[in-house]
Amino acid sequence: MTLEETIGAIKADAEHDLSESSSAKEIEALKVKYLGKKGRVQGLMHMLKDSPADQRPLFGKLINDLKTTLEEQLNFACDRFERDELNKRLLTETLDVTLPGRRRFHGREHVILKMLDEAIEILSGMGFSVQYGPDIESDFYNFEALNFSKDHPARDMHDTFYITGDLLLRTHTSNTQVRVMESCEPPIRMIAPGKCYRNEDVSARSHVLFHQIEGLYIDKDVTFADLLATLEEFFVKLLHQDIEMRYRPSYFPFVEPGMEVDINCIVCGGEGCSVCKHTGWLEVAGAGMVHPEVMKAGGIDPEEYLGYAWGFGIERLAMLRYGIKDIRLFLEDNVRFLQQF
Ligand code: PHE
Repeated sequence: MTLEETIGAIKADAEHDLSESSSAKEIEALKVKYLGKKGRVQGLMHMLKDSPADQRPLFGKLINDLKTTLEEQLNFACDRFERDELNKRLLTETLDVTLPGRRRFHGREHVILKMLDEAIEILSGMGFSVQYGPDIESDFYNFEALNFSKDHPARDMHDTFYITGDLLLRTHTSNTQVRVMESCEPPIRMIAPGKCYRNEDVSARSHVLFHQIEGLYIDKDVTFADLLATLEEFFVKLLHQDIEMRYRPSYFPFVEPGMEVDINCIVCGGEGCSVCKHTGWLEVAGAGMVHPEVMKAGGIDPEEYLGYAWGFGIERLAMLRYGIKDIRLFLEDNVRFLQQF
């Protein structure tokens, strides 16, 4: 067969193969067969070398034309098959744009932290600086320095989680009082927010873990009236409404005089509900004038300085503000409950 005839035969074969093929993959195989490094067109190049010199330009042109034609035809067919295949896939693979997207859950601040932050903001605005005491505390700062001697009966009121004989989980944020007195010179005007722990039966109104904010003000002329005014201003700002407050004399070894602070139950409007134990009032804080013995433990002269202190429970306040009837909800990780705030 002459070179020219061979070229014609390759062209005819390629056209035949092309007409028989039905997928992009088959076309890719034809590209290898005809145009690849060891393909038939390349074979023609070898034959070209052996052909008479005067015919080479013509044959060279014929081979190049064949190559270009085959490239065009194969590429065209390949594109067409690819497009057809894509269309076919799109017809079967339906994308349902009406399907609702998956909701992403955003984390948010826990309602107790939110209340704590708000309380801290209000009190900072009233001139109190923020201090933090440890959750794991020594008997000394939690009790002894606060005028609870070793066998003081008032210790019974604090159902304490002991870690070792001397270490415990603080039962109140009052553990910060003497720590701050030791490290700061009066005048002292501080608040100490944090977690407290009590080994109590869990119920709708009390939990083993809760939050308090301690307040401590020590200066030369601090009065009980200052304490009352500060508490009233604070509670009105925090609860966003007019409230009634009631003070009951009470005993805490580290204050004298001492009192408990009640707020009228805004959940039931005073009619009586489970939050206020059907009394119309909810106890929210303990407070009083700092006991001279506590001042002494903190290295402050009680003859020269006076002070007041308070401690209030954040969960109680959140229950009042949002009308929550069970303190356990705060710790239960129930997303439907937590999402409301
Ligand atoms: N620490 C007391 C308690 O947890 C509250 C309190 C604080 C009372 C400061 C008086 C002064 O019950």
